[in-house]
Amino acid sequence: GMKYPIIAIDGPAAAGKGTLARQLAEVLALPYLDTGLLYRAVARRVLDQGGDPAHDGPEQARQLMPEDMRRDDLRTPEVDRAASLVAKEPEVRAALLERQRLFARARGAVVDGRDIGTVVFPQATAKFFITASPEVRAQRRYIQRYGQSCTDSAALAAEVAAINARDGQDASRQTAPLRPAEDAVQILTDGLDAAAVLEKVCQILQEKGIIRV
Ligand code: CDP
Ligand code: CDP
Repeated sequence: GMKYPIIAIDGPAAAGKGTLARQLAEVLALPYLDTGLLYRAVARRVLDQGGDPAHDGPEQARQLMPEDMRRDDLRTPEVDRAASLVAKEPEVRAALLERQRLFARARGAVVDGRDIGTVVFPQATAKFFITASPEVRAQRRYIQRYGQSCTDSAALAAEVAAINARDGQDASRQTAPLRPAEDAVQILTDGLDAAAVLEKVCQILQEKGIIRV
């Protein structure tokens, strides 16, 4: 068995993976790793250097420094698109793989991303695949970015299109595509707030004996 618990949280864009993972890490007193930030930081470096995210990335991934993940300009729509492009490159993914595994080595971790349960930690203690309809996720991302819900149907449609484009790209790539691990618990979160999702996940972890009541 595994020495320390690793909880894998995967799913499509803006499903609430990070929010759940952060809260779960607090409940379980485990470190939290947002792996999307690694791909975003690689993309940011490529864009800053005037490179092409569809072709560049491996060198930037190998040179990644901890402070790159702390930049405040990693969650723009431009970086969303560029991150998904660099994430297609096998060399980029290979350069980031060991870093993710090392993070969890000392004390375990709650880790969120796309391929955590399938590739990064196939032996994770528990795996969740968090989803919601594209419309719900577009509205969540809009509120997160602009502080209010979107009432402009064209603007919301553009957000849905961006989310669908990125999910399509993430799910169709050759290396470590977005898909639920066979042993992942899938949770559709339409109509559930973050607290309700956390409660559901904690209940499942209790049933599995990973959390003691
Ligand atoms: O990490 P991911 O992109 O999957 O999503 P997130 O950044 O954790 O969540 C996107 C937004 O949805 C945040 O503003 C959350 O507060 C909100 N939200 C959520 O996380 N979970 C719900 N069940 C409902 C809303
Ligand atoms: O927060 P959101 O769900 O919008 O995106 P993210 O988790 O920050 O990930 C940004 C992009 O990085 C994704 O669209 C994927 O292309 C890539 N990614 C990946 O390929 N594998 C991961 N484990 C995490 C992110």
